[in-house]
Amino acid sequence: MTGFRDAHVLITGAASGIGRLLARGAAARGARVTLLDRDQAGLLAARLELGLAGADAAAFTVDLCDRSAVQATAARVLAARGPVDILINNAGVVTGKPLLECSDAAIERTFQVNTLALFWTVRALLPAMIARGRGHVVTIASAAGLGGTSRLTDYCASKFAAVGFDESLRLELRRLGHPIRTTVVCPWYIDTGMFRGVRTSFPRLLPILQPDYVAGRILGAIQGNRRRLVMPRFVMAVLLVRILPLGLYDAVMRFFGVDRNMDGFSGRLDRMPHGGNDEDGGPERGRGSV
Ligand SMILES: NC(=O)c1ccc[n+]([C@@H]2O[C@H](COP(=O)([O-])OP(=O)(O)OC[C@H]3O[C@@H](n4cnc5c(N)ncnc54)[C@H](OP(=O)(O)O)[C@@H]3O)[C@@H](O)[C@H]2O)c1
Repeated sequence: MTGFRDAHVLITGAASGIGRLLARGAAARGARVTLLDRDQAGLLAARLELGLAGADAAAFTVDLCDRSAVQATAARVLAARGPVDILINNAGVVTGKPLLECSDAAIERTFQVNTLALFWTVRALLPAMIARGRGHVVTIASAAGLGGTSRLTDYCASKFAAVGFDESLRLELRRLGHPIRTTVVCPWYIDTGMFRGVRTSFPRLLPILQPDYVAGRILGAIQGNRRRLVMPRFVMAVLLVRILPLGLYDAVMRFFGVDRNMDGFSGRLDRMPHGGNDEDGGPERGRGSV
């Protein structure tokens, strides 16, 4: 069992959505929490909220697209807060457009945040876990990492990569004899705003998930050392359907409306830089601890 009491938990993308709820839940379970995000104002609000609740919380502003900034921030976290017991790679972005409408910059950013940042944070923080003989690496992937769909070519590809990253890391750690735990999380759509406008064709089997429910399940999975958490359970069916010939597989996916779910997608209208066609990566934000 991975305990939260007095554990040092680092969460990326902790200024909003699931990351913020995970920080709240981990702190409520007695953890010391370190929050990373590019959103300085959101981070400040999250840290203040946790501080008012009596938690030991620190926040660091960093753009996860910037490898050297991630490495420098990880070094600062280790120096200021000590080794990390539970690393939750949660930050993610979505473009939500047909392939030919995605800008080059948006595609690159999707892979930088959803995939490459996993490498930079884990490579920076895993050595201290190995040295202490304990630690837990959590990858928030997606159901989109188990099956592809329309308007999500970059997102699905980046989340398939995240699932592959977790699986390879898990096997490698075992092979090398390091007792570090891993958990990969593959949720269906969650009502955080990131996927605003998506529809589900079968709300009973594939409901849009509530953020508090998802965060609670993730914390429970970490505590229970579950290697994989897929929500809702019906999403696991995609793994079974994979044994079918591809024509049949596609027909099953179409039947469940998986190719149409994104038709009404608008995403976070308030945060253009990640979803839009910007070529320059959006406005500059400050870096440092808040
Ligand atoms: N929502 C869903 O339906 C859903 C379903 C399955 C899986 N997931 C996954 O769950 C995770 C959390 O999603 P969520 O719905 O909570 O999203 P969210 O509310 O948009 O939160 C993501 C956080 O990550 C931050 N972030 C994005 N790019 C960053 C960067 N380059 N550097 C640092 N921070 C960055 C965002 O900052 P800004 O606000 O400034 O962009 C935001 O605070 C993601 O990995 C997502 O892919 C979500």
